[in-house]
Amino acid sequence: MEHHANIVPWHMLVAERGIVLRYIPITPDGQLDLSNLDALLTDAKVLSFTSMSNVLGTINPSKFLCAAAHRAGAIAIVDGCQSVPHMATDVQDMGADFLVFSSHKMCGPSGLGLLWGRQQLLDAMPPFMGGGNMIADVRLDGFTCAELPAKYEAGTPPITEAIGLGAAVAYLSKIGMNNIRAHEIDLATYTMNQLTQRFGQDIVIHGPTNIEVRGATHSFAFKDLHPHDVSQVLDQNNVCVRAGHHCAKPLMRLLGANATVRASFYLYNNHQDADALCDALEQASEFFSPS
Ligand SMILES: Cc1ncc(COP(=O)(O)O)c(C=O)c1O
Repeated sequence: MEHHANIVPWHMLVAERGIVLRYIPITPDGQLDLSNLDALLTDAKVLSFTSMSNVLGTINPSKFLCAAAHRAGAIAIVDGCQSVPHMATDVQDMGADFLVFSSHKMCGPSGLGLLWGRQQLLDAMPPFMGGGNMIADVRLDGFTCAELPAKYEAGTPPITEAIGLGAAVAYLSKIGMNNIRAHEIDLATYTMNQLTQRFGQDIVIHGPTNIEVRGATHSFAFKDLHPHDVSQVLDQNNVCVRAGHHCAKPLMRLLGANATVRASFYLYNNHQDADALCDALEQASEFFSPS
């Protein structure tokens, strides 16, 4: 269920270093199938997983997965791009070794991503990029690295973006991440109920039905209509969704779809938005029905 961002770099390491990739399978309701996890992790060096799927909305059991990785002697890398904006994050409690997330998915500016890492690991690794700012000293015969975090921040940083993200974090923190999660649970419950009540078998919502293990991201197939056709009619009705493969082509293959329509809700959405989505879907149904 990973975004290409957590697949392609590993493929690149297969080519560069000959590492071996293994994948955790997915259950029919879009959760990780953990029945064979310990066997899959035998001799693994890294377990890298998303804490929340950007397609299915699935919230993965991050703490359990980090513990399983450590039992196997592997490190745990968490792709928090979807969970960090939508729920409280505690990297210590989770037991993550590394966690990444993006500014632009949490009301911040684009062009900025964040990596949190355990100090011991960050200290042990060599810098991945050289330049200004990341040095304590430079001589003709070599250089010494700056202390963390500057060691990994070569060059002039995205100053404007970092200040913008700081404002976004302050804004979200003031609202409260637990309040945002509670709001989205309410919204996802309402939306799932409305979609299934109004469209029955005409809609297939991918991912878990249990709201406890899903966010407010709804990917679906509607009738036999192409997702891009659906999204165009929704757009004409002022409902903005994304249609496409959502940078998760392996998952699309598993779903047997080229694409899905995805309606993603955040703190600024409400029940009226869910109603507008349903009304616009009725328009799409009418528009494409053979007369
Ligand atoms: C789960 C997940 N991981 C990774 C990414 C990639 O983030 P970025 O585009 O900031 O590299 C995204 C979104 O694009 C995502 O939803």
